[in-house]
Amino acid sequence: MTDELIRTVNLTKIYGAGEVAVRALDGVNLTVAAGEFLAVMGPSGCGKSTLLNLLGALDRPTSGEVWVAGENLARLKNVDAFRAKTVGFVFQLHNLLPTLTALENVEVPMQGHLSASKRRMRARELLALVGLADRDAALPNQLSGGQRQRVAVARALANSPALLLADEPTGSLDSQSGEEILALLAGLNRTQGTTILIVTHDRRVAQATQRIVRMSDGRIISDHRLDDPLEEDLRTLANSRLGQAILEHNGVALKHLCPDERIALQRLLERLADRG
Ligand SMILES: Nc1ncnc2c1ncn2[C@@H]1O[C@H](COP(=O)(O)OP(=O)(O)OP(=O)(O)O)[C@@H](O)[C@H]1O
Ligand SMILES: [Mg+2]
Repeated sequence: MTDELIRTVNLTKIYGAGEVAVRALDGVNLTVAAGEFLAVMGPSGCGKSTLLNLLGALDRPTSGEVWVAGENLARLKNVDAFRAKTVGFVFQLHNLLPTLTALENVEVPMQGHLSASKRRMRARELLALVGLADRDAALPNQLSGGQRQRVAVARALANSPALLLADEPTGSLDSQSGEEILALLAGLNRTQGTTILIVTHDRRVAQATQRIVRMSDGRIISDHRLDDPLEEDLRTLANSRLGQAILEHNGVALKHLCPDERIALQRLLERLADRG
């Protein structure tokens, strides 16, 4: 049996009131087992960051429930302690403290939890884990974007959180640095068993995870596991402009195929579309 780490029940978040109210989350039911590595995708404004903020107790829902690691977040006695212990955050714009070195930035979340010497030791270990052992004394502006993001990952891991929430951690990076961060996260998931939920616009990033949750207008519109790479490729094709044209029986898109091939492709995509 797998342990459940996250459960949301009818999670709803409305910003503002009256005519300007925005229903950012609209009845989201999401369950994540401990040890999963999953991606949340969807168009800008569909509620991804809102969901992350609620999962990390950075904000409160309008209605519905969030359970993380067996705790109902609405009933937490000490929200700061929960955040420090259970959740690590990585944001798109690394927000490291500019006047602190890489090492000191990683130490910040451990303040109040560990002695100064233990903090230093752990921060060194974490910088080594993200491949930056030799850059411990660098200030953020002396590091590349990818290196800063790795410091942010190390900082998020400071207190060995069960859950790592990453909001577009590769969004501001070139593709090489993005791949390095992704490999780092995948490695953490594999070797430390950290549950990782990552928001991304990048299909390649999402496909490196084990499960893709798609959102639209504050709701989950699909949720599937990536056990079968072929099925995933077909799904990509089905969602492409060509795939959509085929599904809409648009003959022009298919003029290079002979009738048998056309029917076969259409059937294949329809089957996937049915499965959602
Ligand atoms: N503090 C806020 N006050 C009012 N409306 C907000 C606030 N934060 C977010 N929203 C609105 O809630 C909706 C969901 O926003 P959210 O930031 O969750 O989207 P997102 O999916 O993360 O988008 P993106 O991909 O652009 O980051 C949007 O319509 C947004 O304008
Ligand atoms: Mg966002």
